[in-house]
Amino acid sequence: MDASRIYSVGDARRRAARSVPRALFDYIDGGAEDEVTLDENIKAFRELAFRPRMAGTKGVPVTSTTLLGTTLSMPVILAPCGLVRFMHFDGALGVARAAAAMGTVSVLSTVAGSSLEEVAASASGPKWFQLYAPGGPEQSALLVERAQRAGYAGLVVTLDTPALGNRERDVRHGVTQPFRFSAASASRLTAQVAVRPRWLAGMVRAQMGARTPSPAATASSAPEPTARLVAMGASPFSWDDVAAIRGQWTGPLAVKGVLSAHDARRAIDVGCDAVIVSNHGGRQLDGAPATMRVLPDIAQALGGAAAVVLDSGVRRGSDVVKALAAGADAVMIGRAYLYGLATCGEQGVRRVLDVLHTEMVRTLSLMGCPSVSDLDPSWLEAPGATSR
Ligand code: FNR
Repeated sequence: MDASRIYSVGDARRRAARSVPRALFDYIDGGAEDEVTLDENIKAFRELAFRPRMAGTKGVPVTSTTLLGTTLSMPVILAPCGLVRFMHFDGALGVARAAAAMGTVSVLSTVAGSSLEEVAASASGPKWFQLYAPGGPEQSALLVERAQRAGYAGLVVTLDTPALGNRERDVRHGVTQPFRFSAASASRLTAQVAVRPRWLAGMVRAQMGARTPSPAATASSAPEPTARLVAMGASPFSWDDVAAIRGQWTGPLAVKGVLSAHDARRAIDVGCDAVIVSNHGGRQLDGAPATMRVLPDIAQALGGAAAVVLDSGVRRGSDVVKALAAGADAVMIGRAYLYGLATCGEQGVRRVLDVLHTEMVRTLSLMGCPSVSDLDPSWLEAPGATSR
C-alpha cells in the first residue's frame, strides 16, 4: 500500500485492520478486560481544551527538543512493543530505521522478536532498549550488558508487568499463556491467515531472510524463539532491582509505568534520569488512571529532577501538544506507529510520524505558540472549565 494515503492515525488503524490477520490486529489494538483504561486514555485527551492566543506568532513553530542528551526533531519517540516482527516483515529493524530517518528515537522491546545487536546495527541514530526480566536479575544483568555493548543510548525498565494483563481479545482468539493452541483455535487462526496472503508472503520472506546470519549476529545474540517470546508474560522488578540496574548501566535510565507522584519520587531516589508515565496503553491493570489525569501531579512532584515522558492514548499531534503543556518533556507512541507498521512496514511508521509532526506544527500555529519549549499549563483550560 502507498503510505501517503494514510492521513491520520485513525486511517492507519483502519488500514491495519485490513492488512494483518484479525488475531494480530486485536493483539495490537486491544486492552485488558473491559478496556476501561484504554478508552479513558483517549477520553482524557479529548476532555482537555486549549487556551489559544491570537495574533501571537508568525513563522513555523519549532518542534525540536533535547531529551536526556539526545536531540530530537520532535518530542515523539517510539515506545517499546513486543512481537513487532510479526506485524510486518520490516519488523524492529524497519521501526528503528523509520525513527532514525525522522530524527527521533525508537525503544526496542526485549520481546520485539529481533536480536538487540541486529537492531543496533540496522540504523544510524540513537536507540534505546527496554528491559523485561522474566528470567530474574541474572538474566536482566546479561541483557543490560549486551545492550551496553551494542551501543544503546538509553535503558527503559518496565515496572508495570509483574503479571501479564488479562487481554481477553487474545484469549478469545485462543492465544493464551503459556503459548498453546487448541485444534479449534489453530483452525480459526489458519482461516484468518488465509485471507491475508500478502502478510503471509511477507512472513515467509522474513523467515527466509532470517536464515542468513546478519553481520551483527552472534551465537549469543540470536532472536528469542517465538514460543519463548510469547511466554514472557510476567516480569516482576523491585526498586532494589532498579537500583542494581542503575549501578550497572552507565547511560540514561528510565522507569516505565509510573502512575503516582510517590513512585516518581522513588524513581529519583534510586537514581533514574527519567520517569515514563504510562499504563501500558491500557493493556495491564484495567482501572488504572488515564495517564493525562496523573501527569500534572507527577510533573509537579519531580519539579525538573528527572525528565517526564508520557504515553498511552496519543493519537494526534494535538495530543502531543496537550501532554507537553501539562508537564511532559516528550511523549511515546505505541499503537499509533504499530498501525502504520502493520499497514506498510517502515514506510508506514515514517508516514505516521510525519502526520503527527504536521499536526503538531499546525496545532502550535493555531494556538499562537512559537515553540514546544514555550508550552506550559497556561496554554490549557483549567480542568472542568470546558464542561461549564
Ligand atoms: C506494548 N507495550 C509494551 N511495553 C513494554 O514496555 N514492553 C513491551 O514489550 C510492550 N509490548 C507492547 C505491544 C503492543 C502491541 C502494544 C500496543 C504495546 C506498551 C507500549 O510500550 C506503550 O506503553 C503503549 O503502547 C502506549 O499506549 P498507546 O500509544 O498504544 O495508546
